[in-house]
Amino acid sequence: MNSKQISVFLISPDEEIYSAIEGSLADQENCSFTGRKETVSGVNGKAANLASLHDVVLFDVEDDADGALKTAQNICDARMPNAIIIALAPEDLPLEKARQLTKLGVDEVLPRNAINEEIVPQVDAIRNRRQAQLPTVWSGHATLGKVIAVAKSRGGVGSSLVAANMANELQAKEGFFKKKATNEVAVVDLDFQFGSIAALMDVEESDAMWRMAMDESIPDGAFLEQAMVKAPCGVDVLAAPSRYGPLSAIQEDQITAILDNLKRTHDYVVVDLPRALVEWITPVLTQADRLYLVTDVAVPSVRSARKLMDFYQSENPAIDIQLVASLEKKPLLPAAHHRAAAKLLEQDFAHWVPKDDRTVRESVDRGIPLQDVSNRAPATRAIKKLADDARAAMPPRVGNS
Ligand SMILES: Nc1ncnc2c1ncn2[C@@H]1O[C@H](COP(=O)(O)OP(=O)(O)OP(=O)(O)O)[C@@H](O)[C@H]1O
Ligand SMILES: [Mg+2]
Repeated sequence: MNSKQISVFLISPDEEIYSAIEGSLADQENCSFTGRKETVSGVNGKAANLASLHDVVLFDVEDDADGALKTAQNICDARMPNAIIIALAPEDLPLEKARQLTKLGVDEVLPRNAINEEIVPQVDAIRNRRQAQLPTVWSGHATLGKVIAVAKSRGGVGSSLVAANMANELQAKEGFFKKKATNEVAVVDLDFQFGSIAALMDVEESDAMWRMAMDESIPDGAFLEQAMVKAPCGVDVLAAPSRYGPLSAIQEDQITAILDNLKRTHDYVVVDLPRALVEWITPVLTQADRLYLVTDVAVPSVRSARKLMDFYQSENPAIDIQLVASLEKKPLLPAAHHRAAAKLLEQDFAHWVPKDDRTVRESVDRGIPLQDVSNRAPATRAIKKLADDARAAMPPRVGNS
């Protein structure tokens, strides 16, 4: 595997931290170290500019944590795609401030006094992983959001309904009126030609993805900020384009960049997949922490679900596929055709979403989540349960719980 040149940048007035990091990286090949032996405010507003040039940025949070938040914001806004930002903070930094830093996009807040126990090993681990081009998960703590893909065995089986409502439920809203989202959730409608997420979530369709496809540009944070729309329910939506474009216009590295960026800013990134087996769904399959395959239990759908599973597994042998039986109530005892389906699929259905015409129709017609039509309706409860299970299996980012 090719190793990659990475650059580490430190802003800290603390001689000890400075020399420990410099020393630990000194004889690493393919790794450059630079820094400023100053406070972030001493760098005179240049912190963000300097930081924007490096793969790993460490900065010392001064005791004036409010000023540090502003600087952290600037540094995070200016980051290179995929750059890792680490704040070094006093051990007694209030949890609230640490959380605010994480919310701004700081990947990790480390105690400033644990130079050799925490800071040096973390920098080393990042360098190692980066050079091996592995995902950024350190010491068991996920600092990136989870990617959840939703696929369907046939058209119209209910997969977008599952994707949109799962996204809403993943927000885990709390408070008296259940208004405040605990988790940041994004939905990406990759059903490029027939996407229906915008309608389901009551946002305008957007031509951003179409433009991205035509320009052949690699989307960055600024693109996504402009292209995404917050739905009334709170979920950030990257809608499918309102005009038709050829499926082949999208490139794999564009999808990779979208997911890489959204994983940094959201706890969950729900991706509504097209049924077409185009090449650019590969990054979704490789990055997905889980894939829900929505199907009904009719024989043709089950057969095509089997083929899709084979394809998904050939692209990513480790992929965690969960089967969702749509338009079916969970049977008390599986009937013969349920057993036959599970046998062909070599796996049981993990979830059942019953047919619930009245609730679904009202939700689709009004562009509101099932939860807002009725929190006790069968379809609402089924998808809420699915989302609750997903949250338990795939916790949100550290520092955002
Ligand atoms: N559980 C359900 N109960 C009743 N109707 C449903 C249910 N799920 C989906 N539907 C209906 O089926 C239609 C298609 O659903 P949806 O758009 O979610 O399917 P899809 O698999 O995403 O289809 P497409 O192939 O168009 O992407 C919806 O408009 C809705 O009216
Ligand atoms: Mg759909």
